[in-house]
Amino acid sequence: MSQRTCLAIVLAAGEGFRMRSSLPKALHAIGGRTLLEHVLRSAVLAGGAEIAVVVGPDHDAVAAQARKLAPQAQIFVQSERLGTAHAVLAAKQAIARGADDILVVFADTPLLRPETLANLRAALERGAAVAVLGFKPADPQGYGRLVMNGGELVAIREQNDATLEELAIAFCNGGLMALAGDKAIPILERIGNANAKGEYYLTDAVAIARDMGLKAVAIETGEDDVRGINTKAQLAQAEAVLQTSLRAAALEAGVTMIAPQTVYLAADTKLGRDVTIEPNVVFGPGVTVEDGALIRSFSHLEGAHVGKGARIGPFARLRPGTELGQDVHIGNFVEVKAAQIEAGAKANHLSYIGDARVGEGANIGAGTITCNYDGIAKHRTDIGAGAFIGSNSSLVAPVKIGDGAYVGSGSVVTKDVPANALAVARSKQTVKEGWAKRLRQLKGLSKNLSKTLTSKTLSKKKPKKRG
Ligand code: UD1
Ligand code: MG
Repeated sequence: MSQRTCLAIVLAAGEGFRMRSSLPKALHAIGGRTLLEHVLRSAVLAGGAEIAVVVGPDHDAVAAQARKLAPQAQIFVQSERLGTAHAVLAAKQAIARGADDILVVFADTPLLRPETLANLRAALERGAAVAVLGFKPADPQGYGRLVMNGGELVAIREQNDATLEELAIAFCNGGLMALAGDKAIPILERIGNANAKGEYYLTDAVAIARDMGLKAVAIETGEDDVRGINTKAQLAQAEAVLQTSLRAAALEAGVTMIAPQTVYLAADTKLGRDVTIEPNVVFGPGVTVEDGALIRSFSHLEGAHVGKGARIGPFARLRPGTELGQDVHIGNFVEVKAAQIEAGAKANHLSYIGDARVGEGANIGAGTITCNYDGIAKHRTDIGAGAFIGSNSSLVAPVKIGDGAYVGSGSVVTKDVPANALAVARSKQTVKEGWAKRLRQLKGLSKNLSKTLTSKTLSKKKPKKRG
């Protein structure tokens, strides 16, 4: 590996007008990660030991996320959005520290592989002052065109400034750029704004470097690597590309998917061997599923750990803080949040388990709700190993159900239940013999009712003939 030092400058100050969104472009996400996070990860992996992030003046949220994801990063504010070259110069102080390689990466180009950035750096090592990525997109609309002369890169022409002849060029600019550290500032400071948009274009670095007698090169890469995101449609296309590669990697690792194209994974989803995922399952960020678990259709998981051999769904929702032990069953219409459910425990139908622990082998009956919120604060429910919670019980937290205890169906449990005890917290049943019949007689309904019963019996005996 090269000993050259590297500064990666991430440009994230653009307005992202074309997204038609109140969220800054860099904070839109694919595969459960923001565009900024994707790019920062690639920059770090490409050897960008030093990182600078350029944000807009009103982009505190972008700066905060950059600080969180890359605490080593230096944040610069581009006070006015005057173009990509102007944005790079916002980080002039970092460039002046004299790294050998300067990598300029765009926060709107999230699928960029670290290897591709390494290829750009290798071009600098071979003597280029400017290296750009070229690609041949299916639709070149909006991209800068690479003007070549023989094998040499002469200039980059932005869409708005291109002649018809230049617009016909299929070889486009991937956007990001590598600059030789000792040439970067003189090149960048010579860039003007005499163009259709009146912006300082980073792309002009190519023609300027050549003017200065320096070498500029284009390295070809695939479209997916440099897919730029300027619109919601491009965001969706990038998501599709990412999903295809995440699904392929999961299948390769031994995951069984019946209809992989209907399963949505996050970039950090971890799936063990022989995990089976039925159609239409969505993984948000932070999910790990251990070997042999089954995730049935229409389940949604985020921030959850699923133990070996567990069975989830169909129609289950696992929210952040869910910890499921081995062979746990979480069935249809069960929601789990911030809860540890220990080995072999079951909640098979229609339940909410939040801020809770469910001990080993416990059985949570249909319709059980942990009432964790009193309108002000959240409270915990603790259910012991082997406990049995009867259907339709409300466990009003904070509350503790001891090991092996029983809770009678329909109970509203407000007090702790000792181990091995039975708690029944519902009103006693009363039975009034003949009450219904007397009511019907009183209302004169008994005749009509017997008529209905008779006609039903008859129609069962003689089914209507069809057609
Ligand atoms: C840019 C390139 C174009 C290339 C395309 C590839 C320029 C002038 N054009 O066009 O040749 O084909 O990317 O995707 O470089 N930004 C700032 N401050 C600014 C302007 C932009 O930080 O003042 C940031 C944006 O947040 C974004 C990146 O720079 O991350 C690129 O800006 P964008 O407006 O998306 O450029 P494109 O029109 O896509
Ligand atoms: Mg762009």
